[in-house]
Amino acid sequence: MPIVLASANPKKVAELRAVIGDRFELVPRPADVPDVVEDADTFVGNARLKAVALVEATGRAALADDSGLEVDALDGRPGVRSARYAGEGATDEDNVAKLLDELGSVDAPGGRAARFRCVIVLRWPDGREVVTEGTCEGHITAGPSGEGGFGYDPVFAPDDGDGRTFAEMSGDEKHAISHRGRAIAALIAALGA
Ligand code: IMP
Repeated sequence: MPIVLASANPKKVAELRAVIGDRFELVPRPADVPDVVEDADTFVGNARLKAVALVEATGRAALADDSGLEVDALDGRPGVRSARYAGEGATDEDNVAKLLDELGSVDAPGGRAARFRCVIVLRWPDGREVVTEGTCEGHITAGPSGEGGFGYDPVFAPDDGDGRTFAEMSGDEKHAISHRGRAIAALIAALGA
């Protein structure tokens, strides 16, 4: 059974394929299916919006994820607005700069506690759904380090790591402890695959 992927972000698609790709046939979102407006105020709400739109457009099972960074000292921001934190069309560098600026000199690591959260919705044309979630606790570093990954990876050091940021880890090291890796592991467990 092919599963259509909602994400058009090549780095996220690559991460999904790396973990799930040999268990299911994953097909990319057809080019003529437009982005949905992600205007829900929860991760699961946004993931469901994307999955429903894709099922309706393709008639196939669809897998959508929504993810983001929650920083305790910022009352959970950037949260569902992680991708657009510094404004529409913001780059990863813009978003990281805004985050570091807002955190200012808050002491590391305790005062800079944060987590990545990922929710996956796999939805079938008959309306059945499997919803899973993964989180990864950590803290925001004083400044960016590392060249790997994407988004906020250069300023996020996971608690389950050795002090390096996600951007300083290999893809496999990150997947083993990341919010997305954990949400996918929960999905695979839920499907008994
Ligand atoms: P989404 O594409 O709507 O799920 O938005 C996710 C946004 O959250 C991304 O654009 C990043 O800014 C951030 N994000 C989610 N997962 C990660 C990750 O694994 N590393 C770094 N940033 C992430």
